[in-house]
Amino acid sequence: MTVIKVSAPGKIHLIGDHSVVYGEPAIIASIGLRCYAIAEESDRIIVNDRQINSGKFGVKEAIEFSTEMENLWSYGSQKNDFSELFQAMKSDSMSFKKAAIGKILKTLKIDSGAKLTLSSDIPSHVGGMGSSAAFAIVITKAIAELNAKRLSLEKINEIAYGIEKLQHGNPSGGDNTTCCYGGLIWFKKASPSNIIIPLKNEIPYTLEDFVMVNAGKRAKTTGELVQHVRNLPDGYRSPRIKKLGECAWEMRSALKARDFKSVKDLMNIAQQNLSELGVSTKKIDEITGVVRSIGGGAKLSGAGGGGMVLCYHDDKAKMAKAIKELGYTPIETRLGVEGARTEER
Ligand code: PMV
Repeated sequence: MTVIKVSAPGKIHLIGDHSVVYGEPAIIASIGLRCYAIAEESDRIIVNDRQINSGKFGVKEAIEFSTEMENLWSYGSQKNDFSELFQAMKSDSMSFKKAAIGKILKTLKIDSGAKLTLSSDIPSHVGGMGSSAAFAIVITKAIAELNAKRLSLEKINEIAYGIEKLQHGNPSGGDNTTCCYGGLIWFKKASPSNIIIPLKNEIPYTLEDFVMVNAGKRAKTTGELVQHVRNLPDGYRSPRIKKLGECAWEMRSALKARDFKSVKDLMNIAQQNLSELGVSTKKIDEITGVVRSIGGGAKLSGAGGGGMVLCYHDDKAKMAKAIKELGYTPIETRLGVEGARTEER
């Protein structure tokens, strides 16, 4: 009996959240929290999810459902509005997994089932840590390897991007790319293919003195928050998106030069612009405000509306104390860890 165990890390945006959807660059780091999938042979699809929900469905059912969702995606893409897709994906608790697994089976021309046991260090109810992207990467890799298909990271990433589109509408692809390759990634959405530059040569040292803080459960999904920004008048949105793009370029230079004074200033400018785009919340403002008031840098990470806040201060203990006094818990994690990997075969 073949048993495969694979894993992939979550991610956090250093800069470029939302603006990356409009073709501006982002810098995204993998984090030391991982998602795991164990795949075993089965005639049906059986999903045992230790964090959210479990379920069973047939191979044909999954493939048909993924085709239905892809059609809704094409429709949404024409209208520039994915509300119907999002509605359908919320219709039952297994929808996303069914669509995702169906898409993998169809793309890889696999007609047998799999028993998948999923577990994750990345809390799925907290946005901004790439839980869905890491999931898309691990199930693609696990199902492929169970069926003796050795896919390149590029191919795994391409399939996972397709899965992310079913979940989020028109994501940039930055999340799945970082969860797949790991490290610190310079990512730019581009045609015919996205620009992906691992920054390990340019920024060879380990990023320290960052912490993450959970600003609470999101009321909206990533797709809905991206849609909110898309619905803003062009003349209001564009200058802020452009500014966020400039911040990403400057952040790359600042990190290269180990200029952390600029890094924290850029984080604060990014937070200001993201807030003006309407994706901050009272709690995010409270956390970022206190870090700024003691001379640090802080910004929401990912789509916002709650979720993770990334904070930096050269005196990490001082920052941790200020965050705790506000009633939040600073979460330490390694940044730039290894990407998707096989754990056991
Ligand atoms: O909130 P997350 O972790 O799903 O990240 C979303 C990042 C955005 O830039 C807002 C969207 C995207 O597709 O890049």
